[in-house]
Amino acid sequence: MQLQQSVSAKMPAQKVIVWEALDATDPMTKAASQLYEKTLAADERIPWMWIEQSVQDRTKSKPRPGGWSRHLLLAAPEGRQDDPDALAGYVYGALLPGYGGYLCYVGVADWARRMGVGGRLYEQFFKVLRVDAGELGEPLPFVIWESHRPDPLAPAADWENWTARTRLFDRVGGLWVDGVDFLSPNFAADEEDDDVPPVPLQLFVKPLDSPESAFTPERLREVVGGLHERVYHNQPGSVLFDSTLPVACEPRLRPARAAGAQKSERGELV
Ligand SMILES: CC(C)(COP(=O)(O)OP(=O)(O)OC[C@H]1O[C@@H](n2cnc3c(N)ncnc32)[C@H](O)[C@@H]1OP(=O)(O)O)[C@@H](O)C(=O)NCCC(=O)NCCS
Repeated sequence: MQLQQSVSAKMPAQKVIVWEALDATDPMTKAASQLYEKTLAADERIPWMWIEQSVQDRTKSKPRPGGWSRHLLLAAPEGRQDDPDALAGYVYGALLPGYGGYLCYVGVADWARRMGVGGRLYEQFFKVLRVDAGELGEPLPFVIWESHRPDPLAPAADWENWTARTRLFDRVGGLWVDGVDFLSPNFAADEEDDDVPPVPLQLFVKPLDSPESAFTPERLREVVGGLHERVYHNQPGSVLFDSTLPVACEPRLRPARAAGAQKSERGELV
């Protein structure tokens, strides 16, 4: 599937093509692995091998009933889809039947930033998941994703990237789940290493077949709990699940840019 569209008014002469990676050995898929490792911190990412495996599995077998339907989408300027140096960005995620969409990772090459590529990848990902859900005869109530807000003392570049992220999320209609620090395992730690603290993530939801008003605090607790259960295999009663959703927690949706708190000169979030 190849889809063409102008990227944005900022890049009028160039079209970007977004397509699905179906060959893990393709140089473009390899280029995506390099971009992935370059643009995301080690504690935010799973091993690329797992993503590669899911690319291979798509061509070999149909997803089993109820199983995840995973997609890696790539973007490059028209006519350069075979040039690894021209890879503009990627997005990876899945439909989780009976739950919703889960966008795991997105990244745009330095040279292609602020040209609408990130927005384009999100929109295309939403469309692909709609097709998946339609094939199952299911609605697609929402797509959810996580993002790590930098530590208050993190370098300015990390805060700049956080601003870019929250603006992008805003642009694609994502809403911040205020009131929840989603505690996820640290993928950079060894499995036996119990001392590495979990990574607190902010969550963002794009309402699709469910209106924004359907995401009451109770529903949001279900959505957040569902993410723990389905993605991280943490059940109620486990430390990470219960620390993410303490009894008094009342999540609510707010504009994504409200999550883009800035660092004051004294290093506080304002
Ligand atoms: C975050 C990221 C994906 C944005 O991709 P992008 O292609 O540059 O985003 P877009 O061009 O589609 O821009 C989307 C919005 O964000 C804004 N934006 C993008 N970069 C920005 C920056 N550095 N500062 C301020 N705003 C920025 C754009 O202006 C646009 O908003 P607008 O439409 O209101 O003008 C990209 O910076 C990136 O790959 N960062 C590193 C990896 C990462 O953080 N991934 C996200 C993991 S959750």
